[in-house]
Amino acid sequence: MISEATGTAHGKLILLGEHAVVYGAPAIAAGIHLGARASATPLPAGAPSTLDLGGRAITADTDTDDDVPRAFGALLRAGGAPPLAISASSELPPGGGLGSSAALGVAMGRAVEALLRRGAANDEERERAALARARAWESVFHGTPSGIDTAAAALGGCFRFTRADGVQQLAPAADLWICVGWSGAGVSTRTMVEGVARLAARKPDVVASSMRGVTSLVDNAALAIEAGDLTGLGRLMNLNQMILAGLMLSTERLEQLCSIARAAGALGAKLTGAGGGGSVIALCRSSRVGHTDVADDDAQRGADAILGAWKDAGYDGFLTRVPAVAHVLVVERGPESAS
Ligand code: MEV
Repeated sequence: MISEATGTAHGKLILLGEHAVVYGAPAIAAGIHLGARASATPLPAGAPSTLDLGGRAITADTDTDDDVPRAFGALLRAGGAPPLAISASSELPPGGGLGSSAALGVAMGRAVEALLRRGAANDEERERAALARARAWESVFHGTPSGIDTAAAALGGCFRFTRADGVQQLAPAADLWICVGWSGAGVSTRTMVEGVARLAARKPDVVASSMRGVTSLVDNAALAIEAGDLTGLGRLMNLNQMILAGLMLSTERLEQLCSIARAAGALGAKLTGAGGGGSVIALCRSSRVGHTDVADDDAQRGADAILGAWKDAGYDGFLTRVPAVAHVLVVERGPESAS
C-alpha cells in the first residue's frame, strides 16, 4: 500500500427540483467551484480508524447515536478497510444546502479507494467503490437520499437527475451567473425530508400535485438552460420557490433573501437544497449567450447589485458561475431577449 492518497469533490447547487427528486421527480443540479478534499494514510494493524474533520477528531463507531462517527464507520465498512487516518475539510458551510456532506463523502471515498486500490483496479471500478462509500456516509445524514448530491459532488457540471435514470448531462447555452446568499444554518436534511414525508402522509393530494408541478418546471428549465433562455429559467425558479414554500420548506429569512435579490434585478430566486435555512440562489441577467472566457459586464453588474443588496440587509453571499459548454459561439443578446 502507498503511504498517502488524496481525493477531492465539488459542492453543488440544486437549480430546481429538490425534495421532489426524493419522490421520483426530476431535478437539475450544478457543481460549483467550492468543494471538499481528503487524504488517507494507513495506521498500524489493530489501531482504530480516525478522522480529522476540519480540526475535529473523530473515531469510527457504527453503534453510536452521534451521526459523524457513525457515518465515518459506515463509509469504512462499505467495501471494508484496514485501520486508516483520514483528514478531510470542506469549503462549504455545513447545513448550507450546498452539498457539504456529499462532497466530504465523495472526497473521502476517493482518498480511501486511491489508497487501497492503486494498481489493483481500473479507474471506473475505483470510482464505483468510492461512490458506494460516499452513499453509505450520506445515508446516515439523509435517511433516504435521492443520490443527486453524491452525483453532483462526483461529477460537477450541470445535469438533470432522476432516481430511476440517474444523470443526464445538460449543455447550458449561456453561462449561468448565480449569486448564493446565506440565510444561516439550516435544520438537517433528514429533518426537512421527514417533514415533507409527514405532509405527504397527511395530505397526499397536495404533495402529489406539487410533485407534478415540479416535474413540468424542471422539464421546461432543462429546455431553457439548453436554449440560453435565462428569463424563462428565472421565472421557473420563482415558481419552484412557491411550491417549496407551499411544502413548508422556506423560512422568513429565505423569503427575504429571494425578495431582495428579485428587487435588485435577479431573473429568479429560490432556496437551494433541503431548505429550513441554508442558502438561496439568485440568477443574474446576462447580455451574452456563450461560454465563459468572455467578460460579461452586465452579468457582473447584476451580481454586484444582488450581493450588495444582501450585504446592506446583513446577509453574506458569493458569486458562482455554471459555464456554458465551450463549443457554443459567443454572441451578444439582442435587445428583445435582454428583458
Ligand atoms: C438535498 O440537497 C436535496 C434533497 O432533495 C434530498 C435528496 O435529494 O436526497 C432535499
